[in-house]
Amino acid sequence: MNSVEGKIALISGGARGLGGMSAIKLAEAGAKVVITDIREEEAAETLDKIISAGGDAKFIKHDVAIEEQWIAAVKFALDEFGGLDIVVNNAGVAGASKPLEDLSLDSWRRLNSINYDGVFLGVKHAIRPLRERAHLWPGGGSIINISSIMGFIGGARAAAYCASKGGVRLLTKAAALELAPSKIRVNSVHPGFINTPLLRGGVDVAEERKEGGGQHFIDGIVRRHPLGRLGEDTDIANAVRFLASDDSSFMTGTEMVVDGGYLAQ
Ligand SMILES: NC(=O)c1ccc[n+]([C@@H]2O[C@H](COP(=O)([O-])OP(=O)(O)OC[C@H]3O[C@@H](n4cnc5c(N)ncnc54)[C@H](O)[C@@H]3O)[C@@H](O)[C@H]2O)c1
Repeated sequence: MNSVEGKIALISGGARGLGGMSAIKLAEAGAKVVITDIREEEAAETLDKIISAGGDAKFIKHDVAIEEQWIAAVKFALDEFGGLDIVVNNAGVAGASKPLEDLSLDSWRRLNSINYDGVFLGVKHAIRPLRERAHLWPGGGSIINISSIMGFIGGARAAAYCASKGGVRLLTKAAALELAPSKIRVNSVHPGFINTPLLRGGVDVAEERKEGGGQHFIDGIVRRHPLGRLGEDTDIANAVRFLASDDSSFMTGTEMVVDGGYLAQ
């Protein structure tokens, strides 16, 4: 039995990368999917992939940092598919990677408005619709917040990113406790370094800075993963699908680390 069959999911930042593959995996498993993102072209490509494989998905343009747009995105899911059972708060950005002394308050706020405020807003606006349908499923409603291994450990020149991801980790636990009586589960996912456009952006920066170049940058990252490779988008999408499904019915407030052993060291 497929335990996301018939469920309705909304995935922020679902145009590409981890969100895009999560959308594809959930749709393959029989969920109806609302992809939200600021990138229309890449969203259209992901939508095409899902629909040509026989899945059901729709797109709405949505900036996760803007509360009115969250209200519109949730309304869109209700209007198009009649409810909501799964919300994946995935949209996120890297950047603001400067020494703390040089980091402007504007860059700190911009990154946190997406990675942190965006997740808060996603949790907040998911509650009412998820609560309404939670009784339909053994595993109730499911909110999945994409954090990072950087929500556990620090990184030099990464204060804004680490703070945002650490915040998401504990926001998840607080929400899990508050929403358990409503049969809504809330879990976080903590990827290691995964081969997506976001990571490839870091490679380009390394090329430009000539810090040994992009391959040197990648080799250094791979060495820090005991399994000896970068993660793939499917590694994370499989974890998302599991947390969305009734197979994880007794899991809430937990941290699912998917990092090739990075944090075990
Ligand atoms: N790739 C990694 O190594 C890695 C590791 C740990 C955590 N993560 C996290 O995983 C999530 C997805 O990252 P990815 O690697 O797939 O990145 P990505 O850049 O490939 O995809 C992120 C998506 O989010 C969208 N987005 C950005 N700002 C947005 C906004 N304001 N509103 C709506 N959508 C917005 C982008 O347009 C893009 O489609 C992020 O939260 C990221 O921090 C990634």
